[in-house]
Amino acid sequence: MRRIRIFDTTLRDGEQSPGVSLNVQEKLEIARQLERLGVDVIEAGFPVASPGDLQAVQAIAKEVRGPIIAALARANRVDIERAAEAVRYAARPRIHTFIATSDIHMRYKLRKSPDEVVEMAVAAVRYAKQFVEDVEFSAEDATRSDPDFLCRIFRAAIEAGATTINIPDTVGYTTPPEYARLIRYIKENAPVPDGVVISVHCHDDLGMAVANSLAAIEAGADQVEGCINGIGERAGNASIEEIVMALKTRQDHYGAETGIITEHIYRTSRLVSTLTGMTIQPNKAIVGDNAFAHESGIHQDGFLKERTTYEIMTPESVGIGQSRLVLGKHSGRHAFRVRLQEMGYDLSEEKVQRAYERFIELADRKKHVTDRDIQAIVEEEFVRIPELFALDYLHVTSGTSTLPTATVRILKGGEPREEAATGDGPVDAVYRAIDRVTGIETNLVSYALHGVTSGKDALGEVTVQIRDNGHVYAGRGTSTDVIEASARAYLQALNKLVYDRQRFAPAPSPAAGSKIQESAEMSPAAGQ
Ligand code: KIV
Ligand code: ZN
Repeated sequence: MRRIRIFDTTLRDGEQSPGVSLNVQEKLEIARQLERLGVDVIEAGFPVASPGDLQAVQAIAKEVRGPIIAALARANRVDIERAAEAVRYAARPRIHTFIATSDIHMRYKLRKSPDEVVEMAVAAVRYAKQFVEDVEFSAEDATRSDPDFLCRIFRAAIEAGATTINIPDTVGYTTPPEYARLIRYIKENAPVPDGVVISVHCHDDLGMAVANSLAAIEAGADQVEGCINGIGERAGNASIEEIVMALKTRQDHYGAETGIITEHIYRTSRLVSTLTGMTIQPNKAIVGDNAFAHESGIHQDGFLKERTTYEIMTPESVGIGQSRLVLGKHSGRHAFRVRLQEMGYDLSEEKVQRAYERFIELADRKKHVTDRDIQAIVEEEFVRIPELFALDYLHVTSGTSTLPTATVRILKGGEPREEAATGDGPVDAVYRAIDRVTGIETNLVSYALHGVTSGKDALGEVTVQIRDNGHVYAGRGTSTDVIEASARAYLQALNKLVYDRQRFAPAPSPAAGSKIQESAEMSPAAGQ
């Protein structure tokens, strides 16, 4: 059985998703969960992009000791030095350096000749080797590059010491048969010797990232790169959970396995969705709300007679469990803690206590509290940043012929502050009143509301994103009262913003550096 390595780039390419910005603690929390999931490599960030990125990669390198920790660097000295600094304390450090190889990128973006690009790639790999043994080299836009030029640059990179060569479909342009042909061609004609890992990295612009990745595995790729929930630049990266479950469910076809503990998939997906503020479409394969739902009568009938009639994998295999315990307001802390453990949550006593208090509040309003409700409560405990602003009291009047008006009392550092405002609707009124208390000018980028479960007493879950100085902060709130959930979500995003402002001097806007930018500074530094 072939063993395929899983390279997760949720914290790097995934964080390049429009509107996503994670703080250090959030990245650390995701990295810890990726380790539990069993990924082989975590690409923790692009350290030269910002001080926050550098700090996050360093924190992950120090704490997450199982997987290889990779840092991205363009093919220049400064990037490589910053990447080396970031992974210095990792148990298994990797520097991932890249340069574009397609005519279009070399001519218009890099303004370099093919010879110069090969020279830069070799210099970058050699320089990275001075810091770490494990160096990955990527030929950006490989699928629109001349295959013979790819062979030439990979041969040179391998001679310079690259231990992994990556063949990215940077713009999501290729097709499965074409990509498979390219992988075989490079394997044979570079040639790629035994011991050097062939990696693939696909984007989803034409919706083929997962199919392309699987075709590449069939053609001999050893490592596959992707993101949880398929997030990433533009239309996103290949979805890790889809690739892993395809390999597992169709092992008869692929004859390959991964080290992923699939029962951790759902929790990882929820964590990434919660912390990035990127909600998951209900029909998303593997982790969408409807992925295991059977609606039509014929399907339900068949499923009830024999599950495998309509289910090719079980929800349990990806960590979506069925509760045997029914929890309600009479359930004690012990039953609650046992349920959390059964659901796979490993929380500190303090977090269990806070989640239990929220659970009792909810059980008072709702007869049966489902696993999904508990999950929603626990997700608020994933990453706790200092709460400068906390909701104390909320009163709203609204109606078809009334001007929506909200009064809020917010504890600011423990001190109560009360304000009232009117708005276009009750949520707008609440947000305006909160703005008066905080005095912070924000730009609400997105607002989404959905019911955690069905039923009139369902818990409402609100996700918001606010923008400040080029950074986007996500907040999430749950309550059976959707106005209260909206206020909680907004306050969480504001608390993250304040926390970031206190920790960092005004950060660069994404256009200036927190996302990868190729520019004049791309030219090789002296000595390369
Ligand atoms: O899509 C891409 O080409 C990349 C490289 C940096 C590997 O993300
Ligand atoms: Zn990419």
